[in-house]
Amino acid sequence: RSPTTMSILGKDYPTDDYTNIPASILSRLSPTPTLPYTKNHPLALLRDQLEASVGPLYTPIHATSPVVSTELNFEDLGIAADHPGRSPTDTYYVNRTTCLRTHTSAHEVETFRNKHERWLLTADVYRRDEIDASHYPIFHQVEGAAIFAHEDYAPGGKVEQECVEMEAKLAKANFEIEDQVGLSEAGGYQSHHDPREAALAVRHLKATLNGLALELFGERHAFETAQKGGSATDPLRVRWIPAFFPFTSPSYEVEVWFRGKWLEILGCGVVQQRTLDKAGVPDRLGWAFGIGLERIAMVLYSIPDIRLFWTQDSRFLGQFASASSNKVSSAGGQSKTASTCKPKLLTFKPYSKYPPCYKDVSFWLPQERKFHENDLFEIVRDRVGDLVEDVVKIDDFVHPKTKKQSMCYRINYRSMDRSLENDEVNELHSDVLARLVDQLSIEIR
Ligand code: PHE
Repeated sequence: RSPTTMSILGKDYPTDDYTNIPASILSRLSPTPTLPYTKNHPLALLRDQLEASVGPLYTPIHATSPVVSTELNFEDLGIAADHPGRSPTDTYYVNRTTCLRTHTSAHEVETFRNKHERWLLTADVYRRDEIDASHYPIFHQVEGAAIFAHEDYAPGGKVEQECVEMEAKLAKANFEIEDQVGLSEAGGYQSHHDPREAALAVRHLKATLNGLALELFGERHAFETAQKGGSATDPLRVRWIPAFFPFTSPSYEVEVWFRGKWLEILGCGVVQQRTLDKAGVPDRLGWAFGIGLERIAMVLYSIPDIRLFWTQDSRFLGQFASASSNKVSSAGGQSKTASTCKPKLLTFKPYSKYPPCYKDVSFWLPQERKFHENDLFEIVRDRVGDLVEDVVKIDDFVHPKTKKQSMCYRINYRSMDRSLENDEVNELHSDVLARLVDQLSIEIR
């Protein structure tokens, strides 16, 4: 009963057994990312800050259509066919070989191929996921990278000089770096790299991203510490944790000590040579990182619910207007310097919440079919959109006699912008139930 082609942004794609993009997502796809280029939007402020932090040597780029080949999103990056992120429970597929990008790394190969050597690329990315205040199927990432020719790695050469300059700036700041990384833990240098060059690439990566962490969190950390009566000299602490990504080695996660806990802010590493070979620049060596914007904006600006990024309510955007510059470029080309707009101490003041409306759904699972929560979440999102705040599993048991498995989920219906009518919620909920029965073959209890 499904059509054999799917039209996205004016292009037709054949569908197959992997196709799983619901109408609610399709209708929101656009040829270029919108929120990070929307005037007064916190994601635009954050993008501005990132671009300002790395400076004009890095070309700001915005991605185009979110529809990418699985080759770009996964294979070229060495993400194996059995990697959990590739499962249709986690990724939106147009068909078996085409998906909605799940991360900005999908654009590394083509960006390097276009001869960009230092760049920051902003894009909307898509993942099937749970429903709560911090998860949304569409979010935004910025990918940054810098690659250099071997001659730039010469002792006393360009890369080393830049490291010395960046490190000198960091040394003057109130800043503490915990480096927990032994190289072997982090995946090690790639065997075909000159270890001296790879070590210098790591040093450049660290100096750049420590600067970025300081730019994003430094002032606010100092301000909040002083306000709490703490010592204004408490340094901003950043730590480097060994990590694994198939497309970088060595790889790291960077965390910042903020409001009493370690906050993971990004993933990064030395670009796998496979990526650069694919891109037609085998003679370069360098690093890349990827940072998610929503989670950091929520922490920095105290935004309590991820749906707020999508609201048109002026009580939201209005609060960011004072801090933002007058013109945020939407062309993605060279944007104005962001040093003119440092909304560093801006804090969102939540406007009053409307009452929640909880509805439970209890059901028996079909015995012959696998159940994945994300499929349930997707059905709820597709019907209810931004009127669902969260969905929580509250019960799960196997009947001792029949061996049938029962589940119960609690759906919290609540709008960010208005009070919901009872009738409206009842109608939404009964539609959700009907769709769950129809699409998941469950039996309502
Ligand atoms: N793409 C990774 C993610 O989404 C982040 C990353 C980017 C890691 C670049 C290393 C290098 O989690």
